[in-house]
Amino acid sequence: MRGFVLSAAWWRLRCRPVLFFAVGLRLDRRRNMLRAEVTVPRLKTLLLGAAGAIVLAGAGFAALAWKPALDPVTPPTRESFPPELIRRGAELAAIGDCNTCHTAPGGKVFAGGLALPTPFGTVYSTNITPDPEAGIGRWSEAAFQRAMREGVDREGSHLYPAFPYDHFTLVTEADNRAIYAYLMTREPVRAETPANELVFPLGFRPLLAGWKLLFLEEGPRPELEADHGAYLAEGLGHCGACHSPRNALGAVQHDHALSGGEAEGWYAYAVNQSSPAPQPWTEESLFHYLRHGWEASHGIARGPMAPVVANLAWVPEEDVRAIAGYVARKMGHGVTPATVPAPIIPVPGPGTSPTMADSQAVPPVPGQDAGRAVYASACASCHEAGRPLPFGGMHLKGSTAPHGPNPRNLINVVLDGLPAAEGERAPIMPGFRAVLTDQQIVELLGYIRAAFTDQQPWTGVEALVREVRRGHTTSASRPTDAVQSAPADPTQ
Ligand code: HEC
Ligand code: HEC
Ligand code: HEC
Repeated sequence: MRGFVLSAAWWRLRCRPVLFFAVGLRLDRRRNMLRAEVTVPRLKTLLLGAAGAIVLAGAGFAALAWKPALDPVTPPTRESFPPELIRRGAELAAIGDCNTCHTAPGGKVFAGGLALPTPFGTVYSTNITPDPEAGIGRWSEAAFQRAMREGVDREGSHLYPAFPYDHFTLVTEADNRAIYAYLMTREPVRAETPANELVFPLGFRPLLAGWKLLFLEEGPRPELEADHGAYLAEGLGHCGACHSPRNALGAVQHDHALSGGEAEGWYAYAVNQSSPAPQPWTEESLFHYLRHGWEASHGIARGPMAPVVANLAWVPEEDVRAIAGYVARKMGHGVTPATVPAPIIPVPGPGTSPTMADSQAVPPVPGQDAGRAVYASACASCHEAGRPLPFGGMHLKGSTAPHGPNPRNLINVVLDGLPAAEGERAPIMPGFRAVLTDQQIVELLGYIRAAFTDQQPWTGVEALVREVRRGHTTSASRPTDAVQSAPADPTQ
């Protein structure tokens, strides 16, 4: 880890020492030429110099890492906040998904304790209810603003970027004030946050100063605020926290923003010009998907995307439209209705009666007989029955899942199915974990890729199926949790 911090400091400063070194050489050479004499630095001088440099670097780093504690306050009363501010705070908190991360399964909303697995260990979300002991009841607005902008808590400790402050840093002071008003008027909950379980020595928070030095571009960015969609998507909405790739130290790679990333055992597809969706998204279809959690020609939002859309379901429509407009621009597709492409598969209108699939309709693909047989018996009856979304399964030709760069989400869906949607008692798609063997799933995936896409076969499918079957995904429980934790009347 010392290596990490040193290399962190080096990375920022690297240009300057190189410059000094070069200048020193030039001066030396000139002196040598003038006086024709060679100076041999003595070992003791060298050692002293090195020790001095280390002490200076250490002191510099400590100064950088140190943040003052901000004074505790008496928890503010509800009357101290205007009701409109609280209401807007509720909407903004939903766009920021504060409820999704700060609520443990079966726990109280905002009371924290959700385990967030990272490649470096588990970080637990904290209690952000206004409880004065266990929560943020004694935080001033200034302390809250600092946490959102700099990732530092009231006592001055650095916070882990599992809290997406690398995005929230772009949130304006006015919006943070509204979120603060909303959180401080929630029910206080006395729930202690479990201790994090991180690999040594990452439990030592001052090290995070090095991470921030390297990767945190502190906001605000005033030019962003003129574009409401960009402001919400890049900042509070933190779409890039899942949809952008990360480097080895867990930092979002901004040069590849929105070009696809990992999220809790799911793959968050590219939502820029490299989107793998077989039917180009438009501003309107993006709006429908983000607002309703599904879209007729693109299917349903699953896994970690489900709580995102559950929150976007009730915030002001113009906020969701702004985000959709921004993503459509990133994808570089036409955004006017005139350019909406014809669906690859005709979408059945409401009231179309389901028909049983004719297994003759399942296209043969050379070398894929075993996979075709699994598809025909396990999948076709729903996915080619023509029942409208969201309750009928869409034709997989139109789904992003078989077209993506890896089959992770397709495997998740086949193993665990999809939970019941509102208005349906049975799960909308059953899981096949107990029914299909790994080998059958590998054959099935090979068939689906070959029959319904024009992409190259996936590689490493067998290992991935094994890994996903062993691992734990968050497929089934998350959507309903998030729906329950969305406040019915935020000002109450
Ligand atoms: C992706 C998950 C995630 C989301 C979304 C998220 N947080 Fe957090 N948050 C965390 C984690 C994890 C921590 C604890 C970090 C640590 O211990 O260093 C945290 C810490 C905090 C803290 C510091 C609290 C303390 O006691 O130190 C505040 C304040 C906070 N979050 C507010 C918010 C708000 C407001 C939102 C919504 C706008 C939000 N968070 C959304 C994961 C999240
Ligand atoms: C917590 C992680 C996470 C966050 C935050 C998130 N997404 Fe997603 N998103 C995903 C995952 C995972 C998928 C794939 C879901 C699936 O297979 O159904 C997805 C799917 C999508 C899709 C469908 C892509 C396709 O071609 O099928 C769109 C569009 C999208 N997200 C937009 C957004 C936008 C806009 C935001 C920010 C407001 C956002 N997402 C925030 C994880 C996330
Ligand atoms: C009982 C009906 C049913 C069966 C059987 C079924 N599905 Fe589904 N499936 C659904 C429904 C409903 C959805 C949600 C709507 C949608 O997204 O297509 C869905 C969604 C999906 C999706 C996500 C599509 C998208 O992009 O939104 C994939 C992929 C999928 N199913 C694959 C399969 C495979 C492979 C099989 C066979 C192993 C299968 N399904 C069997 C009903 C079914």
